[in-house]
Amino acid sequence: MILVTGGAGFIGSNFVLDWLRVNDEPVLNLDKLTYAGNLENLAELQGDPRYAFVQGDIGDKALIDTLLQKHRPRAVINFAAESHVDRSIHGPGEFIQTNIVGTFNLLESVRGHFTSLNEAEKATFRFLHVSTDEVYGSLKADDPAFKETNRYEPNSPYSASKAASDHLVRAYHHTYGLPVLTTNCSNNYGPYHFPEKLIPLMIVNALAGKPLPIYGDGQQIRDWLYVTDHCSAIRCVLQAGQVGETYNVGGWNEKPNLAIVHAVCDLLDELRPRASGGTYREQITYVTDRPGHDRRYAIDASKIERELGWKPAETFETGIRKTVQWYLDHQDWVANVQSGAYREWLDKNYAGRAR
Ligand code: NAD
Ligand code: DAU
Repeated sequence: MILVTGGAGFIGSNFVLDWLRVNDEPVLNLDKLTYAGNLENLAELQGDPRYAFVQGDIGDKALIDTLLQKHRPRAVINFAAESHVDRSIHGPGEFIQTNIVGTFNLLESVRGHFTSLNEAEKATFRFLHVSTDEVYGSLKADDPAFKETNRYEPNSPYSASKAASDHLVRAYHHTYGLPVLTTNCSNNYGPYHFPEKLIPLMIVNALAGKPLPIYGDGQQIRDWLYVTDHCSAIRCVLQAGQVGETYNVGGWNEKPNLAIVHAVCDLLDELRPRASGGTYREQITYVTDRPGHDRRYAIDASKIERELGWKPAETFETGIRKTVQWYLDHQDWVANVQSGAYREWLDKNYAGRAR
């Protein structure tokens, strides 16, 4: 069996669902259920004997030690993290706690577990750490895309905390021989994406007749990958990745934020025309920029393509259509995540931004 941490979040829940669609190997999902964790994402697994859930913190060493001793997973895949850049600007403490201290405690538990394995088990055991392209910092317009050999230059408390966790993972391989793998992926989008992030926020606000807040000039570039393509890349790295290596994951799909928001508006115009007429683009509003906003991310995915034969299955056009349709078909899910805490976050992040 495998142990997945953070499996109730956006990418983790897509990964668990995807894993059990293509595999019969059981999954134990450990998640703290922060505001970003949602068991509703995994409702279809209720009663499935291949799946179990434990609520807990990756930083709780006693709990993780017990789980590892009891279940003896052959791999640990670490998705658990605080993941939203804007939240890291308003309050970095949780990011340090989970992404750095939590990952450290998890590594300590896994190191103890690894030591207890026999030689055959050691040969196949893996710790896969899910990280981000943001650790490489920001690119200029004509810089080449990030390679695995790029220097780490994180600019936000979020990316700095992820960079620190990547360094710890690397150190546990070099110092203790822990068989680790690290993936650094670009921006994901797709089902179950929490509507604090650009694409789901735009869909949800558009349908509610609210402003679509564009930070700064909207010309910041991100490299978008449909979430199930990230999941297939992780499966691929787990199966065939070389221990100690890192793999950049991306879809060669750079787009300015404004183009993303236009694409969302145009799909909504087609699939759910505004009752009042006109286009959803009329709801676009320019607001004060994110402090320290990285201008451009782009992933060079040639290593994972060349060495492991991975390729994304979706283009941006197919992926964004599926995504918009998913949100239209899952308005109950959207309503259920818009709790009081969610509304408080919107007030905190957007109230002072009007221009
Ligand atoms: P998310 O915020 O949607 O989910 C994070 C999950 O981790 C939640 O279920 C939360 O409850 C859980 N969690 C948080 N703190 C925890 C703790 N201390 N112990 C146990 N569980 C905890 O994040 P996501 O977008 O699904 O990202 C998952 C991972 O992928 C993160 O490590 C993130 O850095 C990385 N990543 C994300 C993207 C992206 O575009 N979203 C891209 C590249 C890499
Ligand atoms: O690159 C990978 C990273 O992508 C992940 O590591 C992070 O976990 C994930 O959150 C994401 O970070 P970003 O900061 O790129 O994603 P976000 O959706 O917050 O913002 C995408 C872009 O859109 C960014 O340039 C900021 C801009 N934006 C965002 C919001 C929420 C807006 O213009 N308006 C908004 O309201």
